[in-house]
Amino acid sequence: MILDGKAVSEKRLELLKERIEESGLYPRLATVIVGEDPASQMYVRMKHRACERVGIGSVGIELPADASTERVLEAVNRLNNDPDINGILVQLPLPSGVDTTRVIEAVAPEKDVDGFHPCSLGRLLAGNPVFAPCTPQGIMTILEEYKIPIAGERVVVVGRSIDVGRPMAILLLNADATVTICHSKTKNLADEMKNADILVSAVGRAKFVGPDMVKKGATVIDVGINYDEQGKLCGDVDFEAVREQAGAITPVPGGVGPMTIATLMENTFRAAKLMTCCNDTARL
Ligand SMILES: NC(=O)c1ccc[n+]([C@@H]2O[C@H](COP(=O)([O-])OP(=O)(O)OC[C@H]3O[C@@H](n4cnc5c(N)ncnc54)[C@H](OP(=O)(O)O)[C@@H]3O)[C@@H](O)[C@H]2O)c1
Repeated sequence: MILDGKAVSEKRLELLKERIEESGLYPRLATVIVGEDPASQMYVRMKHRACERVGIGSVGIELPADASTERVLEAVNRLNNDPDINGILVQLPLPSGVDTTRVIEAVAPEKDVDGFHPCSLGRLLAGNPVFAPCTPQGIMTILEEYKIPIAGERVVVVGRSIDVGRPMAILLLNADATVTICHSKTKNLADEMKNADILVSAVGRAKFVGPDMVKKGATVIDVGINYDEQGKLCGDVDFEAVREQAGAITPVPGGVGPMTIATLMENTFRAAKLMTCCNDTARL
């Protein structure tokens, strides 16, 4: 079974558009981009387009590549204090001259729609998330939409980054999976991976996952965004070789990627509701 993230994201965006209309709210997202990295510019454009589609207002702050940390912090603080802005997204990676940790920690937790602030990650760890990071939360949505069982299943997450691997593992743990996190120092990685009922690869290497690493019938989630020798977009998984072995698999493109943006839109609506409901998180 192909897990069609594009189709799921279309469905979720349509549903979200209706919910936003019904709510009478006009959520607003601000993006902050530093420098002119073409991939980052493309992601930000896609986010603004998605906003327009679902009825979320968006503003874009663009800073030059040589902007200081202080200048980025100043932009974030202005957005924190702007009552018309519900969500703030700082496009990562930031140029090496900018202190990424300070910038992430400067975002007001109630506007942290990317879910990277320590408050958001702490709440997630405590099993009570408000904003979960968009990529792993989007993966949870795909699993839910396709009714893939999670509770009690053996899950292996390869990768331990703050934006994907760690929050992915915690979301799955919160959903009662038995979770193993693997990384570059893991011994006998292929053996660990082969144990997985659900295998999530967030490594960032083309053809990293071959059929010998996948249990027959496993669900394979490919987070990677890579380019093969021909310059063609591909994931971490050797899709053609693994698809016969897997019970269900996400393609690249058209798998996890579209869900990341759909989840950002959902988080922004959530932030708008949170602000309107005077921090009544129980109503979210
Ligand atoms: N589809 C989307 O929306 C989306 C969103 C975010 C990211 N991505 C993509 O997902 C991939 C991962 O992103 P990221 O931000 O998590 O990357 P990252 O910060 O570079 O983390 C990569 C992880 O993979 C591990 N790793 C590297 N080589 C390994 C190896 N040989 N064996 C086992 N583990 C290995 C690293 O281990 P160590 O910790 O030991 O170094 C690290 O934990 C990238 O291709 C990125 O472009 C996609």
